[in-house]
Amino acid sequence: MNAIEIRDLSLRLGGRSVLTGINLDIAAGEFVGMLGPNGSGKTTLMRAILGLVPPAAGTIRILGGPAQRGNPAIGYMPQARSFLTGLRLSGRQFVASAGGGYRLGLPMHRRSERAEIERALDRVGAAELASRPFSDLSGGERQRLLLAQALLGNPQLLLLDEPLISLDPHRQHEVVDLVRSLQSELGITVLFSAHDVNALLGVIDRVLYLGSGQAALGTVDEIITTPVLSRLYGSHIDVVHVQERIFVMSGGYCTESEEHRHDSPAAGSSRTGFSGHA
Ligand SMILES: Nc1ncnc2c1ncn2[C@@H]1O[C@H](COP(=O)(O)OP(=O)(O)OP(=O)(O)O)[C@@H](O)[C@H]1O
Ligand SMILES: [Mg+2]
Repeated sequence: MNAIEIRDLSLRLGGRSVLTGINLDIAAGEFVGMLGPNGSGKTTLMRAILGLVPPAAGTIRILGGPAQRGNPAIGYMPQARSFLTGLRLSGRQFVASAGGGYRLGLPMHRRSERAEIERALDRVGAAELASRPFSDLSGGERQRLLLAQALLGNPQLLLLDEPLISLDPHRQHEVVDLVRSLQSELGITVLFSAHDVNALLGVIDRVLYLGSGQAALGTVDEIITTPVLSRLYGSHIDVVHVQERIFVMSGGYCTESEEHRHDSPAAGSSRTGFSGHA
C-alpha cells in the first residue's frame, strides 16, 4: 500500500499558487527527505497531507483513505516552534500536552495514556530529560521531546518539518539516526523536510524536491542533478560533489546557505555551528 498518493494536486494559499499539478506516490515504509528553497511549499504540502490545506485541485490519499483533519495515523512535528520559548512545563508535561491530557497544569491521564507517554519518551531516549523544564533544554533535547510528541498514538506516517533547524552537525546526525531507527523498528513512513540533503545522505530512500510550484521525487542521484534542480529553481544550478558531500550551487553560492536558515528561538542559537556549506 502507498502511504501517500497525490494526483494532479494544486495547492493555493491566500490566492497564490504554491504547488501545481503534483503527482507522486510514497510507499509505506519509505523514508523520504523533502527539500526545496524557502517558500517552495514544503510546509504547505505537509499541512495538505494533514488535511489542513484543502486542495485547489486534485486529490491526496493517505494510507488508502482521503486526507482529512485529525487523522490519528499521522504524527506531525510542525516547523513553527517559537511558541515553545519560555514554556515552564516539564518535558514530560510538554509531551503529554499533545494528547490533550493536561488541563490547568494538572495531570489527568489515564494509566494507559501515561504508559504511552513513557513509551514514546523511551523510544527517543528522553525519559531522563523529561523531568526537567522544557524551557531549560537545549535545541537537540527539545527536538527529541517533539519527536516523542509526534510518536504518540502510534502513527504509521511521520511528518517532520525541519527537525534539524538550529542543530549542530553532530546533533543533526543524532536526530537523523534516531528517526531512521524508529522508522525501521516501527515500520513507519517518514517525510522529513530539511534544507541540506547532506544530513540525510545514506539514510533516505528517496528525495522529494520542490521548486517553482513543481515537485520531483526519486533517488538522490536522480534528483540532485543540474537539469532537475535547474528546472525546479528556474535558473542554472550546479551540483558539486566533494568527497561524500553534495553542494547545490547557484551563481557560485550555495543555495542552502544563510538565507535558508530559519529563526527558531525555541531551538537555541547554534546555527552558526553548521558547517555543511562551502
Ligand atoms: N497563510 C498564507 N497565506 C498566503 N500565502 C502563504 C500562507 N502561508 C504560506 N504562504 C506562502 O506559501 C508559500 C509556501 O510556503 P511554505 O511555508 O509551504 O514554504 P516552505 O517550503 O515550507 O518554506 P521554508 O523553507 O521557508 O519553511 C510561500 O510563498 C509562502 O509565503
Ligand atoms: Mg516550511
